[in-house]
Amino acid sequence: MIKTIRHTAAAALLVASALAVPALADTAGQPTTATLHADKPGPTYDARIFTQFAEHLGNGIYGGLWVGNDKSIPNTNGFRNDVIGALRELKVPVIRWPGGCFADEYHWREGIGPQAKRPVKINTNWGGVTEPNAVGTHEYFELLRQVGSQAYISGNVGNGTAREMAEWVEYITSPAGSLAEERARNGHKGAWALPLFGIGNELWGCGGNMRPEYAADETRRFATFIKAPAGTRVLKIASGPNVDDYNWTETVMRLAGDQIDGLSLHYYTVPGGWPPRATATGFDEHGWAETLAGARRMDELVTRHSAIMDKYDPQKRVFLAVDEWGTWYAQEPGSHPGFLLQQNTLRDALVASTTLDIFARHADRVRLSAIAQMVNVLQAMILTEGKKMVLTPTYHVFMMYRPWQDATVLPIDIASPWYAKDEFTMPAVSGSAVRDKAGVVHVALSNRDPGQANTVTVRLDGVTASSAAGQVVTAATMDAHNTFDTPDAVRPAPFTGATIQGGTLTVTLPAKSVVVLDLR
Ligand code: AHR
Repeated sequence: MIKTIRHTAAAALLVASALAVPALADTAGQPTTATLHADKPGPTYDARIFTQFAEHLGNGIYGGLWVGNDKSIPNTNGFRNDVIGALRELKVPVIRWPGGCFADEYHWREGIGPQAKRPVKINTNWGGVTEPNAVGTHEYFELLRQVGSQAYISGNVGNGTAREMAEWVEYITSPAGSLAEERARNGHKGAWALPLFGIGNELWGCGGNMRPEYAADETRRFATFIKAPAGTRVLKIASGPNVDDYNWTETVMRLAGDQIDGLSLHYYTVPGGWPPRATATGFDEHGWAETLAGARRMDELVTRHSAIMDKYDPQKRVFLAVDEWGTWYAQEPGSHPGFLLQQNTLRDALVASTTLDIFARHADRVRLSAIAQMVNVLQAMILTEGKKMVLTPTYHVFMMYRPWQDATVLPIDIASPWYAKDEFTMPAVSGSAVRDKAGVVHVALSNRDPGQANTVTVRLDGVTASSAAGQVVTAATMDAHNTFDTPDAVRPAPFTGATIQGGTLTVTLPAKSVVVLDLR
């Protein structure tokens, strides 16, 4: 399912040179120079890169989002008000549901109609617990309504049929007919918008253990029957490769590329390797560096998968949807097996900024991504326990990057000193920049060196701004994190370490920090 790679110094040098970052040996602590090319704007940073993923897994949905009739937790139509409020703030553009592996065993008819009559199943993928089907299609669209998000449903190719999938799409989108009437009887008269639909989840694994040739044929067949009513469009996303399975991308693009609008890619950062054994907290600098090196691997994966897609789709019509990414550690001691509950530290904040910066460099091809997952699962935005809720460092980074949504990418060349720990080597400084629709330039800079501050001077080509202000996320320790007792241990603070003079932005980044600035 998952692989990690240890970045040797040699591998890091290769990646760095591909990114035009000079390879410098033993340069920790030296200043960073950069050039922001606002005069050479790039593609749009698609808002859908900030998609969230909510699977029927552990307390991702039940308890984390949905509390049903539990009056002790304030909720609206079953969804907890505190979590929904935090997600609204985040401007979540899209929510991917119902899985994950869960999707390829999900039968949508079991999740409609009176809740008390819905079958109770076993969640065979995640902990073997009972699945009440209380959150089904109508509840999902109610969640989208409350958060202000759009739909991305993963259909069941694994043990479902093309007919079942086609009827689900019709039930959701059709303005008329028996299925539309059934939808109305179940409480929703109007059709819903379904802009994105996944043709299975991981067809190479839990979605059926298919060979790529077979998966490509199945993708063609199922795609044929996903039909949108006149005047609407459902973008079809094929189940894509696992990590570096380039043959999968080659085969699916060759055999089914003309039938799809997007191809997914799943890549998790798993320090220590599979199965996940590294702890989410209490790690040392080795664990810090290994995790960030693992996150940086996304650049190589996207570059190589994109190059294959370019062969079959030079116009970049088909987008790469990195619809599962993030850190995957050993789950919290004492938590339910299979629930994938993990803490979230400053290290995860740097994984998030590193990854969002990588997507800026590939915004022409990566037009959707979904961190895994939204609440209580893996690299979550939000953790809950009963009535309590806490926002994670990853949440705060996503909040700071909100201006990236649908803004124009501005290329930024960064010549950074190296940060090295044991066998892991990487440029200390990561960054990206955008210009929003109002014309404001936003710059993100992260210092991955946990031990040394770094001063970055950025030549501003094509920017007229004279001041820089923003926020920083940092902390005293690498594994600083928020708990229900100390919810604000890691949170954004005003940042005062930036100036602009003579067309140059100078920023002193604290060690292990993420800084996002508005230039005005
Ligand atoms: O996000 C957890 C699981 O990881 C998903 O269900 C699956 O798609 C992936 O392997």
